[in-house]
Amino acid sequence: MRLLALELARITEATAIAAAQWVGRRDPKGADKEAVDIMRRALNNMDIDGTIVIGEGERDKAPMLFIGEKVGRSESQNKVDIAVDPVEGTDACAYGRNDSMVVMAVGRKGSLLAAPDVYMQKIAVGPKCLGVIDINATVRENIEAVAKALDKRKSNVTVMVLDRERHTGLIDEISKTGAKVHTISDGDVSACMATCMEESGIDMYMGIGGAPEGVLAAAALRCMGGEIQGKLVALHDDEQERLDKAGITDLSRVYRTRDLAGGTEIFFVATAITNGPVLRGVRFLGQSRVTTETLVMRTESGTIRKILATHNLDKKDFTLI
Ligand code: FBP
Repeated sequence: MRLLALELARITEATAIAAAQWVGRRDPKGADKEAVDIMRRALNNMDIDGTIVIGEGERDKAPMLFIGEKVGRSESQNKVDIAVDPVEGTDACAYGRNDSMVVMAVGRKGSLLAAPDVYMQKIAVGPKCLGVIDINATVRENIEAVAKALDKRKSNVTVMVLDRERHTGLIDEISKTGAKVHTISDGDVSACMATCMEESGIDMYMGIGGAPEGVLAAAALRCMGGEIQGKLVALHDDEQERLDKAGITDLSRVYRTRDLAGGTEIFFVATAITNGPVLRGVRFLGQSRVTTETLVMRTESGTIRKILATHNLDKKDFTLI
């Protein structure tokens, strides 16, 4: 299984290079389709018997990488579940903003929660704050706990929040404690990961984002030693329908890191499409050279590997990996 990590990195790199051609073209569907095409083809060439548990959506709405889709080879001994977001931050990519990346988590069968495509209230922190947060506590209590764990003044705690109207009250509450708010237009997987990297300057992530992204973030935080807590939320009727269909009625349930991404061996790989707090985006250097930054992590070893790669487009057709 260990060798899988590099194989997965090759896939996210190729997908990011393809998606990066769509940066700023104002065509979110085009970017998504190209990324999904490449990722799917590459996954089917791998020695895995994989099932997509977090993908582009339900079969009737997503032609490829739909939830439940089988990828790889059924005879393979590597029976795995896969959570993917071929373009996490599709609008950020399409409209040329920061914080879009290709993300993928792989774990043994049953280890990744098949979260329905609804929203999730989340709170995430890095390793120094393990065990101090509580999604049911007030914003002030959580910020005080994080400040204490980090040995910082409250006014030096920085909380990342998605820039959405629904977060006006949350941003007010954070500001009232004296803590700093850093808003992002998209990409809360990378925001959660940023809490585990001191150099990012981000101490906490709070707010409501996608539930599938909650699972991807949990896989990353498992590898990085951080923590996430989440509660499922339906903001619109169709999400309520999805919850009903999944038989989920208890919206007070707190999903902890291991409820979202359990098991002993989880792989997490991400390649940035545009710049983010953790990784630099794809750069095209001249006619045929292109650089990528990828994070490759595995729970078992705890190694966080950043791969800076320069690819030669003359020598390799990335659409054919
Ligand atoms: P996509 O990958 O679907 O583009 O999601 C981007 C994102 O910003 C996520 O990071 C976040 O969890 C979610 O959207 C928030 O949803 P919304 O944009 O509906 O507020």
